[in-house]
Amino acid sequence: MRRILVTSALPYANGPLHLGHLLEAIQTDIWVRYQRLSGHEAYYFCAEDTHGTPIMLKAQAEGLTPEALIERTASEHKADYQGFFISHDNFHSTHSPENKHRTETIFKALDAAGHIKRRAVRQAYDEKAGMFLPDRYVKGTCPVCKTIDQYGDSCESCGSTYSPSELLNPVSVVTGTTPVERESEHLFFSLTSFEGMLRDWTRSGALQEGVANKLDEWFKAGLKDWDISRESPYFGFEIPGAPGKYFYVWLDAPIGYIASFEHYALGHGLSLSDWWDENSPTELHHFIGKDILYFHTLFWPAVLTGAHLRRPTGVHVHGFLTVNGQKMSKSRGTFILARDYLQHLPAEALRYYYAAKLGSGVDDLDLSLDDFVARVNSDLVGKVVNIASRCAGFIAKSGGVLAGALADPALYAEFLKLQDPLRLHYEQRDYSSAMREIMLLADKANQYIDAHKPWNLAKDPQKAADVIAVCSQGLNLFRVLMAYLKPVLPDTATRAEAFLGAPLKHWDELQTPLLNTHLAPYEPLFMRLDPVVVRQLVASPAVASPATATAPSPAVNAAAAKKSPPAAAEPPAEITVEDIAKLDLRVARIVSAEFVEGADKLLRLTVSTGEAQRTVFAGIRAAYDPASLIDRHVVLVANLKPRQMKFGLSEGMILAAGPGGTDVFLVTPDPGAQAGMRVK
Ligand code: MSP
Ligand code: ZN
Repeated sequence: MRRILVTSALPYANGPLHLGHLLEAIQTDIWVRYQRLSGHEAYYFCAEDTHGTPIMLKAQAEGLTPEALIERTASEHKADYQGFFISHDNFHSTHSPENKHRTETIFKALDAAGHIKRRAVRQAYDEKAGMFLPDRYVKGTCPVCKTIDQYGDSCESCGSTYSPSELLNPVSVVTGTTPVERESEHLFFSLTSFEGMLRDWTRSGALQEGVANKLDEWFKAGLKDWDISRESPYFGFEIPGAPGKYFYVWLDAPIGYIASFEHYALGHGLSLSDWWDENSPTELHHFIGKDILYFHTLFWPAVLTGAHLRRPTGVHVHGFLTVNGQKMSKSRGTFILARDYLQHLPAEALRYYYAAKLGSGVDDLDLSLDDFVARVNSDLVGKVVNIASRCAGFIAKSGGVLAGALADPALYAEFLKLQDPLRLHYEQRDYSSAMREIMLLADKANQYIDAHKPWNLAKDPQKAADVIAVCSQGLNLFRVLMAYLKPVLPDTATRAEAFLGAPLKHWDELQTPLLNTHLAPYEPLFMRLDPVVVRQLVASPAVASPATATAPSPAVNAAAAKKSPPAAAEPPAEITVEDIAKLDLRVARIVSAEFVEGADKLLRLTVSTGEAQRTVFAGIRAAYDPASLIDRHVVLVANLKPRQMKFGLSEGMILAAGPGGTDVFLVTPDPGAQAGMRVK
């Protein structure tokens, strides 16, 4: 028996869960439930990630203490997780005594071993708010392309990266005042001392191939020591021996995994040293999204090693959720909150759909709503549950007891034989292969019933025993399928077991078929999804904001604006007809669109104006899937002076509306407009 500790990333306490968060929780939960059904000792821990500037400011904006905000969010998060049948053994908080103590202990161990360095840092400071400003809390004009309203770390329009001090007209997002530079002493964790260990660990089998390659890039670029301190005011744990300085949220957040374990361990006879000591024989698996790779595959194993704790056995990285082919977006209504989904649709439909599409790689996963309805209805309702509903009535009519022997033991054995390949698929998180195999068997079970036609047999009183034999065989096959699907559909499986009168804790129990046993009355196990309801899900845009640590939420901006409005943008200057005549606007057709290596906001577009093609770099990567852009007509500023950018020459500009990020809307001419036509 393996002893396995599993975690999902801790959700930030400043926003509601959306279907992207649920992708991770469901992926993890399926894995944990599979391990338990295989007889292993598996625990699933998570917690609320509570510290940092965004949560502090959001609480202020709502007139709450951070503690009150955390409590409210945590109870919402817990309800959402429960609604999706996420089987955490413990859901704790990083703002807990266990985490404070564990973080201090680890920090002291690192410091005593010489892994903590102290050095002065210059940083933007908001004199009015009396606080140092993280890069994303400074906005201003891009020093390179002069686009206004850009964050302090990078430009959404041209993709340049810089420090807040390089912004033109910098403004604090918190108060709207101009920040100054101030120096203070910061504490650094010397990541660089762990490079050798990290290189070995990277290739130890703990990581997916693609992830290990990503790490190699980082090694090549050179590791840097990590700033783990933040100045007051900061919502977090004060650093022992450094009054007024706080641990950066990303130091204590993963330690929250240990804290959640400790909080649970106390009442459940688990020992900290068994599970966390350097040479622990147990397994530790983290499930995370690709955006937080650096923290989990470099900082975290290094911190653990420096503090003489065990390293993760596996860090399993998944891609991002897109909806209908695009990044989730509030204005498109595709930013679907967990609670909105649960109001309309069954949790297990989403669990199944994710499972049917999840592989073991880091590819993004698209929730295509039409495909979602089709898949769930055809697989779960049309194939799996159909077996039970076709057989249940005949058995009920003839006394409700299953036959004394299997009619086709070879077929049953064939179903059992899938266990081994299935184990492999589940273990490797290749759920899509698992679902495919299970559905092939479901087809077989239906073919068996079709071939024996119990509805015909039932017309002949002489064949009453045959009806029972065929339907008992069908229900036994159904039982195996439901057991295989149990990690994905825990609720339906439990209801199916109740109907069959045979609760199942372990796949081994399938070795014994159900014979001569009583059935409970059959109740529909899964209802068809109504495409109209599914469409309604995206009809009304969600109101709440995404939880991110880096970007100030709209609520923060609003609150800041109330206190003191940010320097108002200059009203656009009046222009004349002659000015307009200077603009050469053309209809252009997008010929190709691709990602730009090293620029996370840009797409490289090749556009055609009929006679010629040009390259344009557009800051629309967050909003558009490149493939969806091909052959679209857009409006090009054709006589813009070509501009040399880090990534190549940009020969024009594409018109779009919206504030930026995921909320960008390309301006499109009505159908019929031809590439090259003048726009005026
Ligand atoms: N609080 C940090 C994690 C700390 S772990 C010690 C954090 N929180 S988060 O709420 O922003 O994200 C939690 C998890 O959800 C991350 O693994 C993240 O990758 C994942 N996802 C957030 N949005 C997602 C999608 N749209 N799609 C898939 N997963 C996404 O990061
Ligand atoms: Zn720029």
